[in-house]
Amino acid sequence: MNLNAAPDSRFSITTPLYYVNDLPHIGSAYTTIAADVVARFHRLLGQPVLMITGTDEHGQKILRTAEERSLSPQDHCDQVVAGFESLWQKLNIQWDRFIRTTSPRHEVIVREFFQRVWDKGDIYRGQQQGWYCVSCEEFKEERDLLDDHRCPLHPNKTVEWRDEQNYFFRLSNYQEKLEQLYAERSDFIQPETRRNEVLSFVKRGLQDFSISRVNLDWGFPVPTDPQHTLYVWFDALLGYVTALQDPDEPPNLEAAISQWWPINVHLIGKDILRFHAVYWPAMLMSAGLPVPGQVFGHGFLTKDGLKMGKSLGNTLDPVDLVDKYGADAVRYYFLREIEFGKDGDFNETRFINALNADLANDLGNLLNRTIKMAARYCGGKVPHGEPMSLTDEHRLKGMGTALGDTVAEAYRQLKFSQACTAILALVQASNKFLDDEAPWSLFKQGKQAETEAVLYAVLESVRLAAYLLSPVVPGLSNEIYRQLGYAVDFNQRSIGEHIRWEDHSHWGYLPPDQPLGEAKPIFQRIEIAEATV
Ligand code: MSP
Repeated sequence: MNLNAAPDSRFSITTPLYYVNDLPHIGSAYTTIAADVVARFHRLLGQPVLMITGTDEHGQKILRTAEERSLSPQDHCDQVVAGFESLWQKLNIQWDRFIRTTSPRHEVIVREFFQRVWDKGDIYRGQQQGWYCVSCEEFKEERDLLDDHRCPLHPNKTVEWRDEQNYFFRLSNYQEKLEQLYAERSDFIQPETRRNEVLSFVKRGLQDFSISRVNLDWGFPVPTDPQHTLYVWFDALLGYVTALQDPDEPPNLEAAISQWWPINVHLIGKDILRFHAVYWPAMLMSAGLPVPGQVFGHGFLTKDGLKMGKSLGNTLDPVDLVDKYGADAVRYYFLREIEFGKDGDFNETRFINALNADLANDLGNLLNRTIKMAARYCGGKVPHGEPMSLTDEHRLKGMGTALGDTVAEAYRQLKFSQACTAILALVQASNKFLDDEAPWSLFKQGKQAETEAVLYAVLESVRLAAYLLSPVVPGLSNEIYRQLGYAVDFNQRSIGEHIRWEDHSHWGYLPPDQPLGEAKPIFQRIEIAEATV
């Protein structure tokens, strides 16, 4: 992989660094799938891409979980991390860097960064009093708590009272600079609803926040006072920086930010917006570093309309889901069904219906019957599209010609659902076109050129759809391309020339006379009775 990217063309994206108190849940899978789709799209454009994911392993929450399991915290983390990597593999995620915050190289970066902020005079010692939610790893305002001092995000947990000496970061120094940032860069926080949440939070006035803990030794010591441990969030956010550097090079902050900084997009869930859109840019400003391009906060997933949780007994295990239905199905459902940025729901019947309708019927059957017809009527080769005389054929061509640009814009704006809808519209139009033009009867009438023109238009539509959908369903796209006679692999990390956007995203790329592969169903219809997750 070429990581020596030109600054203007390189693209970097992060998922949150996930807590390892437990195996990955569907929420972590959701963000990671989305980040993977964006990374794959930019690779298709031929840009050098760095996709970062990883794990957030320090802090009280992880320490307590390890203690409950009677494991050393490091052993506990190692076990859970293996579960993350294995799920990302199953989901066909192509990450470039997996950063673990317990890695020794990360500590070097954290120390250097801390020193910059310290030298700037933005760290001081003070008394911290307040209610702490260990599950959030965050102090909470009394007015934001539920009855009995329960955390609104973890209603089965009570918050804990803390009264201790901590080091503080002077967030209040950055009130104006942050407001200026939000005003100058209106797309810094997306979508709009999230931006508004942050603006009103900042408007209320920013307070300094503590960046160290006492009586906790699962974390890095504060460089200037090793009796204190750095706050897990201060350490975790910096994981994004450590991840940028080639793991074989000696860790160094300057070197780490030399190629890929600033990150283009931080993808996160809405619950951790404040950390990324307020604390993080202020920390970076203090250290004299440019701020990231964008923070995008997506919505929360529910199951059958209910909040998911272990205590409610209605969690959705991403491993079960992918084992049962496959990576493409899971990736497609979440990105197609839920408008990215809004909350969304998982319901197994809807899941099955969507997959059957779009992937098994509209796309799969279309390819299958068209390839079979091409075998029968055109000698198993891609038919000749010319002469193009049928008006309807021009309609598909008209849709197909504009589609690449529409879909690219949708992917750029993380409007995955819109991208899928636009692609599926071409597929649906192709189905209708095939039924209307009935190439089987054109063939019987001896109209070979017309038969070929119809079949070409449909096969080309399926090819284009498969190409444009490949960031979302790379496995399916591979299979469609294979049946169309190509030897390409959408899972290759280095795109090279062979599946570049500028060629394949255009209508008419499918070469006549290319030998077609054998027709095989690309997506098996799912029977409702199989539903059990
Ligand atoms: N460790 C921090 C992130 C540090 S980033 C430097 C953290 N980890 S987490 O594992 O708790 O959360 C990871 C992500 O999962 C968050 O983006 C969160 O929004 C997301 N989700 C958790 N539950 C979710 C749903 N039910 N639905 C969608 N996403 C959800 O926070």
